[in-house]
Amino acid sequence: MDKQIQPVTRLTGEVSVPGDKSISHRAVMFGALADGVTRVTGFLPGADCLSTVDCFRKLGVQIEQHSPTELSVHGVGLDGLQEPTDVLDVGNSGTTARLMLGILAGQSFHCTVTGDASIRKRPMGRVAGPLREMGARIEGRDGGRLAPLSVRGGGLQAFRYDSPVASAQVKSGILLAGLFAEGATGVREPEPSRDHTERMLQAFGVVVEDREGYITVQGGSRLTATDIEVPGDISSAAFLLVAAAIVPGSDVTIRGVGLNPTRTGILDVLLDMGAQIEVVNERQAGGEPVADLRVRGSRLRATTVRGAIIPRLIDEVPVLAVAATQAEGVTEIRDAAELKVKESNRIATTANELRKFGAIVEELEDGLRIHGGAQLQGGAVIETHHDHRIAMSMAVAALVANGATTIRDWESVDVSFPGFAELFQNL
Ligand code: S3P
Repeated sequence: MDKQIQPVTRLTGEVSVPGDKSISHRAVMFGALADGVTRVTGFLPGADCLSTVDCFRKLGVQIEQHSPTELSVHGVGLDGLQEPTDVLDVGNSGTTARLMLGILAGQSFHCTVTGDASIRKRPMGRVAGPLREMGARIEGRDGGRLAPLSVRGGGLQAFRYDSPVASAQVKSGILLAGLFAEGATGVREPEPSRDHTERMLQAFGVVVEDREGYITVQGGSRLTATDIEVPGDISSAAFLLVAAAIVPGSDVTIRGVGLNPTRTGILDVLLDMGAQIEVVNERQAGGEPVADLRVRGSRLRATTVRGAIIPRLIDEVPVLAVAATQAEGVTEIRDAAELKVKESNRIATTANELRKFGAIVEELEDGLRIHGGAQLQGGAVIETHHDHRIAMSMAVAALVANGATTIRDWESVDVSFPGFAELFQNL
């Protein structure tokens, strides 16, 4: 479906964004493995998280959906999952694939995991490899690195893993397998990635320790059901933050945004670029810090983004590049080669699609160089490459173009932000 986006004169009002995607996935998975019933509120009813619900139902878990955002997950305990009678289809969701592989590695039954065309190109060896070292049998295309993957787990040995990438999906996959292994399993990363798994496992009563720099869980630790209140997704709020910052005269308040410090890189960078953002009403929800964010139209200046902050804003790079087109000076984003293996190659897709607006953007081996101060041109026809964050980032760019923009395959937005267009319309 094509979407036409018209430029706007300003954005004003108060909104909330949908629930955090990372936390919603984990609430379903950990609830499934727990003893007792986990009630989830603020769940993200996006396609990715619904894929997780579907897969865990196929694994024999009863999940009641009381409303789009409220679930009850009837946990089956650590040893209660059942062999599925069909293939487990994760759709577009890398998080479902990699975390679930960790859980499946601990099961003695057989199953097959697949997903859409994008998932079948994304590297699964980064999690399948260490899981094999723990004792799981995982086979698939390209020497077992690409889905569809067939898994027969069980009999796992504990493991200490030095991950070559800062990836919460890899870390979480190994730690979840560690729950089913004999002994203590630990993961060390080159830079800290998002820590929702560690926080939520603790909320479910599992001891998670730092042992000599390895985040460690003890095999056989049981999870006790709990209630999870999912905060708003800062990765979704990022589209509003950038939009309100680059459209002059805007004044937008976003309520209830999760501000886990492993996720707030986008705030740090926008503040550094001169964006007027106030953090108000700070509180805790479900073991995570939450606040309201007020953002106003601002004059932005260029910046350099590299190093340890990259994992803290990895999903926000495309929309950050949009902000950079409106900043004074040249912005560089480096150390972000991971972008090449996201839902699309986001270095290439961000550069190519922004160029259609007339922006000057250079593709680098590990990032982007964006020349700011551009008047974006109307008339662009954007290819989203079925990547939700490319679709939404280009929609934000379209707000400051001097004519209408067409975005192809708009439905990909539903992966993480159902209601995106309506929410912007209300502002
Ligand atoms: C996620 C981790 C990140 C992120 C993804 C969600 C998670 O991926 O890009 O959107 O929920 O653990 P990587 O682990 O591949 O960095």
